[in-house]
Amino acid sequence: MNKIPYLFSLLFLMNCNSSLEKEKKYFSPGEKWMDNNGVHINAHGGGILFHEGLYYWYGEHKIEGEIGNTAQVGVHLYTSQNLYDWKDQGIVLKVNETDPESDIYKGSIIERPKVIFNKKTKKFVMWFHLEPINKVYKTAEGANVGYGAAKSGIAYSDSPFGPFEYLRSVRPNAGKWPINVQDFHKKKVSSEVKKIYGGGPEHLPVHVDSLNILGRDFKIGQMARDMTLFVDNDEKAYHIYSSEDNSTLHISMLSDDYLSHSGTYKRIFPSKFNEAPTMMKSSSGKYFIIASGCTSWSPNPARSATSNNIFGSWKELGNPCVSRDSLTTYYSQSTYILPINGIKDAFIFMADRWKPENPIEGTYVWLPIKIKNDKLIELEWKEKWDLSVFD
Ligand code: GAL
Repeated sequence: MNKIPYLFSLLFLMNCNSSLEKEKKYFSPGEKWMDNNGVHINAHGGGILFHEGLYYWYGEHKIEGEIGNTAQVGVHLYTSQNLYDWKDQGIVLKVNETDPESDIYKGSIIERPKVIFNKKTKKFVMWFHLEPINKVYKTAEGANVGYGAAKSGIAYSDSPFGPFEYLRSVRPNAGKWPINVQDFHKKKVSSEVKKIYGGGPEHLPVHVDSLNILGRDFKIGQMARDMTLFVDNDEKAYHIYSSEDNSTLHISMLSDDYLSHSGTYKRIFPSKFNEAPTMMKSSSGKYFIIASGCTSWSPNPARSATSNNIFGSWKELGNPCVSRDSLTTYYSQSTYILPINGIKDAFIFMADRWKPENPIEGTYVWLPIKIKNDKLIELEWKEKWDLSVFD
């Protein structure tokens, strides 16, 4: 047998195989995910905007080492047409490196950025959890380690590619009571509740309503840490965040320009310590929330809830994860629910597998959301999957 043509066809086949390999499009939850430059995507705690044919993934840019848990660079953007291949578009909101008085000075904490488009003003509006640098919480290297400010940062841009201009930071809804305020909220707050409690239920062993943290923060505005944004069919937008020392979720309607709170908000699940909230709406109009418990960077079982109206009443549904490792949400924590353009009731659950000791190595867990009888949602583990699951 003539070995030369045989070798040629072997080489040809090998080449075909490697280009087939390149053509393979799938999600591998928890694995490293390379961008167009072959670099692991750096957009943690992120959210995705779909605008005019393109997906825009905004997230926290992390750097090596524990200092990377603070904002050393800013908010990173990647774009994609097909959700598998992502192009690095650089930093769209930069930390301030010249003015130590700036809220977003290098070393502050900028977490969970989300961007929405306002059809009236044509502005792209970014909200994020912000812990400005402050004297109390600064380390010797100038990094912020405290979460006591519990503020929301707002930035905007004329283009989804940025640059985003930082506008201000707020404590939501100062001087406003929620729709479901109770009489005791308006009573004088005891001095016992002056202090800010830590992050989780272990720091607040009593029911939050016996402390009235809402009342404590009435004048200065409510705390807001882990957060998401949600735009409804009528273009009203909502800021959903862990408030009252993480014990209670608030759903807060934004102003028409999306740049501030409207003053209309509701507390839900008091003392249930939901973090990392995400929201979606099915084509029949049912709202769903997926959130996590409150255990810092360590994973815990996710929770879900449903409602016919955005302000409730919300019904708890329990952990939507159904496969092995459901008790750790597959070693991840929710960050966003992405509706897929052009496919009815197709949603992707986006979560972070945090690596707090070297945050740049954190990976992403994306899974399809199964809606069951428009009542329940389920997250099944998949080693590898593609958008054909929604066919
Ligand atoms: C998590 C939260 C993260 C980050 C972390 C800090 O619970 O979801 O966004 O704030 O705590 O410990």
